[in-house]
Amino acid sequence: MAQARVIAVINQKGGAGKTTVAMHLAAGLARRAPAVVVDLDPQASATQWAAAGTQPFPATVKQLRAGAATVDLRRDYRGFDFVVLDCPPAADSRAAELALRCCDVAVIPVLPSPVDLWASLRLPQHIDDARQHNPALRAWLLLNQIEARSALSAAMQGALAEFGLPVLRTPVRRRGVYKTAALEGVSAYQMGARGAAAAAEIDGIIEEILAS
Ligand SMILES: Nc1ncnc2c1ncn2[C@@H]1O[C@H](COP(=O)(O)OP(=O)(O)O)[C@@H](O)[C@H]1O
Ligand SMILES: [Mg+2]
Repeated sequence: MAQARVIAVINQKGGAGKTTVAMHLAAGLARRAPAVVVDLDPQASATQWAAAGTQPFPATVKQLRAGAATVDLRRDYRGFDFVVLDCPPAADSRAAELALRCCDVAVIPVLPSPVDLWASLRLPQHIDDARQHNPALRAWLLLNQIEARSALSAAMQGALAEFGLPVLRTPVRRRGVYKTAALEGVSAYQMGARGAAAAAEIDGIIEEILAS
């Protein structure tokens, strides 16, 4: 299978960790080859993140404004080996639809609470719809904000099973360093020992995605 090039980070729920995951995947991918985050969210958090602080962000971040449905992401970003799409918190927006139609991989960050998961239960349907145009689309759930040493509840396991989507083996733990990275306009990769554990888990996720 061809290597994933366009990775959409998507979830209709706000606060699930889309921007945090998109920025860190791009920062990790940029260590391998040129990577761009395309900020599809009108709230522009990825764009603000890259503009914060004094150090340059390790991946390029570009904002895509209205009329997104007319763009050809592969053509427009052909200078980059990896294109990471930071989607708005609405699965039925044109931007999210565009993202699902043109990506190789959809990564869906979810918080480890059944109530949060249920808020995203329409996503598998959107993935199925997108596969009519994009049959090779692969999609994974990514557990975010996992507490160290706490096992997933039975309710959570059940809610995950209801999705019928595979779950990436590597979760993202809840770590203050992810918030600090956003404030400082960098990623965990630029934070030395403070960021090492976060960078290692992001590398694990990247390996899972690229190996698939
Ligand atoms: N793994 C994590 N550990 C700690 N804080 C996190 C983590 N993931 C996300 N956050 C924080 O949660 C909030 C929402 O995350 P964000 O990436 O903006 O979500 P979304 O883009 O889905 O709305 C932000 O304040 C972010 O710093
Ligand atoms: Mg966001």
